[in-house]
Amino acid sequence: MSNWKTRLEAGALALAMLALAAAAYWPQAGSGADRQVLGAAKIPAGPYVALTFDDGPKASTTPVLLDGLAQRGVRATFFVIGENVEGNELLLQRMEGEGHQIGLHTYHHKMLDQLNAAGFYAEVDQLRATLTALVGREDFMLRPPYGMMNAATQARAAAPIVLWSVDPEDWSDRNTSRQVAAIVDKAQDGDIILLHDIYPSSVDTALQVVDALLARGFHFVTVEQLFAIRGVTPENGKVYRRLPPPRP
Ligand code: NI
Repeated sequence: MSNWKTRLEAGALALAMLALAAAAYWPQAGSGADRQVLGAAKIPAGPYVALTFDDGPKASTTPVLLDGLAQRGVRATFFVIGENVEGNELLLQRMEGEGHQIGLHTYHHKMLDQLNAAGFYAEVDQLRATLTALVGREDFMLRPPYGMMNAATQARAAAPIVLWSVDPEDWSDRNTSRQVAAIVDKAQDGDIILLHDIYPSSVDTALQVVDALLARGFHFVTVEQLFAIRGVTPENGKVYRRLPPPRP
């Protein structure tokens, strides 16, 4: 069963807390006119981006990233692989406990458009069940490995499908300065940034991007929070690449 409306209401509560934190940390953020109001809380006008990390967790790199995000008060989204969750269960519970969002990236990093129904359910539902046992809920968004999918994938997903709008191709080199520039130069309000928390260089990239974009006034949110900020209810099987602000 999926209940994104309940999740979004919980997200709205988290956003109210974000707004309170923002009021403390960014007393001049936004003007009265351009702030969104959600419940009783005023949400900073943005810009907002969501950092997303695929293919983990990994015991040697993911904790370093979580430490760095915690130091900066930043929450991110982790699309995990089932076989990498095995042995790293405490890391998943740490993510959940620290307010990060956890999502599905299949059990064995399979191309979803290559699977029949049985294969799909083995790869996606098995991971969903594993995560539910670990963190006690069952609403997880789905990121298909390599972004590969077809109509059958969308029909079978039973989850919103989250792709990305900024991809520095961090797997292609270990060049943090190149990767940071590729992200910071491109980042816009509503972007979903793709990185992989399995490379030390990508962890460095992520934390440098956080520092650079915080200095430019960006706020980092989970994908769920980005939906809530934009007033969009995620739909199962629908594909999302970014969540830009509404046009004036
Ligand atoms: Ni992947």
